[in-house]
Amino acid sequence: MSLCVLGVESSCDETAVAVVRRGDDGAVEVLSSVIHSQVVKHAVYGGVVPEIAARSHVETIDDLARLALAEAAEKGVGVDAIDAVAATAGPGLIGGVMVGLSFAKGFALSRGLPLIGVNHLEGHALSVRLTHDVPFPFLLLLVSGGHCQLLHVRGVGDYERLGTTIDDAAGEAFDKIAKTLGLGYPGGPALEAEAAKGDAARFTLPRALLGRKDCDFSYSGLKTAAAKIAMEQVKTPQDRADLCASVQAAIARQLVERSARAMRAFKAEHGGDSPAFVVAGGVAANKTVRSELSALAQKEGFEFVAPPLAYCTDNAAMIALAGLERFALMRAAADYDGDKQVHDG
Ligand code: KG4
Ligand code: ZN
Repeated sequence: MSLCVLGVESSCDETAVAVVRRGDDGAVEVLSSVIHSQVVKHAVYGGVVPEIAARSHVETIDDLARLALAEAAEKGVGVDAIDAVAATAGPGLIGGVMVGLSFAKGFALSRGLPLIGVNHLEGHALSVRLTHDVPFPFLLLLVSGGHCQLLHVRGVGDYERLGTTIDDAAGEAFDKIAKTLGLGYPGGPALEAEAAKGDAARFTLPRALLGRKDCDFSYSGLKTAAAKIAMEQVKTPQDRADLCASVQAAIARQLVERSARAMRAFKAEHGGDSPAFVVAGGVAANKTVRSELSALAQKEGFEFVAPPLAYCTDNAAMIALAGLERFALMRAAADYDGDKQVHDG
């Protein structure tokens, strides 16, 4: 059955609204996906300021929703065609989450629609299905500023966490080291640009958790080591570029080492066909990270899949899709139980 969901995301420094439809044939269509980035508002502080973020969500969410609805209407899907509203209910900065969720609740109430609270990580986990017909189960590496996890995605609502960071997320490591080196915020893209001019073999950095028999990550030792080198040995622009290249290589190496372990565990359970290895989150934008993970996937017999960048970083289309998939399951269960209220919409 065809379903159309309005999605809202506001858990960090992006306000986003989207309309996503899944047709009778199961094909997913993003009818609109609008995003307002607050990055310039936070850049001067070198990181996201929760109070500023929440206020900015309040200022922009109405206009973004109007825009998202207008774009969907231009494609022939008016507001009356929306079946449900989905919003990020956590984890995230609570002030921002409350703005998006309250907006979604008001919208749903006023139109008599169901509201589905979505876990932000579930949005990332399923985001690949906005553009790729990836079947369950698949292996997911989620690498963003807030998260660094390996997930075994068995189905909608059925996730096993194979590993997570025991301190910083990979994106956070990029951002904090970039800040130490005076590269501004967000640091990931700036550090990558510097790294392109440097020699990755110049500095030896610690290889955290090497040999540990799990799939966890750790980046705080790298951060401390990089700060020490920055203070003691970085005197010229070339030194800084070399340190950036060495840091980027170290982050990529740990992502590869831990993903390799997860791939072997996944294969042990599912056998030898060519399952998907999906990489999502802002760090997936990094070319070195991407190419090394892609090479690993090829070596281990996985198909490397990375959603387009717009769906890798925070967006509302992934929240709409996660809500849609959950709503479809709820509706199917209600049909089965003969629940007329949900069945009749
Ligand atoms: O997924 P995302 O937009 O937001 C969340 O954290 O949920 O990811 C943002 C993170 C930031 O830490 C940013 O520095 C990092 O992704 N990032 C990068 C690159 N582009 C974004 N890190 C390394 N290289 C990049 N090119
Ligand atoms: Zn995110």
